[in-house]
Amino acid sequence: MTAPRDADAVHVRDVSKTYHAADGAVIDVLERLSFSIAAGEMVSLIGPSGCGKTTLLRLIAGLDAPTAGEILLGNRPINNPGAERGLMFQDPNLFPWLTVRGNVEAGLVARGILDERRREVDEFMRLVGLEAFADVYPHQLSGGMAQRAALARALVNHPAVLLLDEPLGALDQFTRMRMQDEVLRLWQTHRTTMLLVTHDIDEAIYMSDRIVMLTPRPGRIDRILNVDLARPRLRTDAEFLALRAMVLEILHLAGSPNENSNQK
Ligand SMILES: Nc1ncnc2c1ncn2[C@@H]1O[C@H](COP(=O)(O)OP(=O)(O)OP(=O)(O)O)[C@@H](O)[C@H]1O
Ligand SMILES: [Mg+2]
Repeated sequence: MTAPRDADAVHVRDVSKTYHAADGAVIDVLERLSFSIAAGEMVSLIGPSGCGKTTLLRLIAGLDAPTAGEILLGNRPINNPGAERGLMFQDPNLFPWLTVRGNVEAGLVARGILDERRREVDEFMRLVGLEAFADVYPHQLSGGMAQRAALARALVNHPAVLLLDEPLGALDQFTRMRMQDEVLRLWQTHRTTMLLVTHDIDEAIYMSDRIVMLTPRPGRIDRILNVDLARPRLRTDAEFLALRAMVLEILHLAGSPNENSNQK
């Protein structure tokens, strides 16, 4: 499916991950996962808490190694972190000793390219609505503001592969929808390869080309859904709602009006 020359495609091949708990117990977190993200594709990852979503993102980021199997970027095995792969952590993880601006700039400073990209730092702070908070420190931010700062910090680096771990989870619904559109716009402009962890089914359908659904721990691929809806998408569209109903059905979350009612 993926063109072989696509250097920015991610291939997860038969990947398992086991952790050893402090008491010596073995925890199987991921079990024989295989799927690919094509270059420039947006894939959502959904699954119950503890099924290994963050673990998988850390493996693709190269922060941790699989117990079995391999992960490739194009045709190169991933062994270490790299600037071409950006990870936005589930909790914002801002550097407490830097201001919002300092945090957004951090990756550019590390790569010695701040001078040429300084204007973009302002652009991204505006994009996430934090331009008035540039000189504020993380402890002075609300949870949603910290998350937006972390998102700007990840986006400003324009990594070829962007791994987002519930990036909009702490935002109110209005801000969240606006940020979804901003992320989509950037994705389309830069043709980023994206893997987005979300607990929000509407977000998965609104944003992604495909949705990878994981089972409860140990996380295995339950199924992969294609989201064949034209973009830009309309959340109230009949096809959108039909797909939403299908996902809820698969997750057994559609509700069962005849069960639990008036039972004594
Ligand atoms: N470093 C570690 N050592 C031991 N166990 C770990 C480690 N990291 C994660 N785990 C365990 O692996 C499992 C999967 O964790 P992970 O954070 O990947 O889940 P998740 O799908 O991201 O969950 P959530 O939706 O709650 O964020 C959990 O049972 C967790 O306790
Ligand atoms: Mg997680």
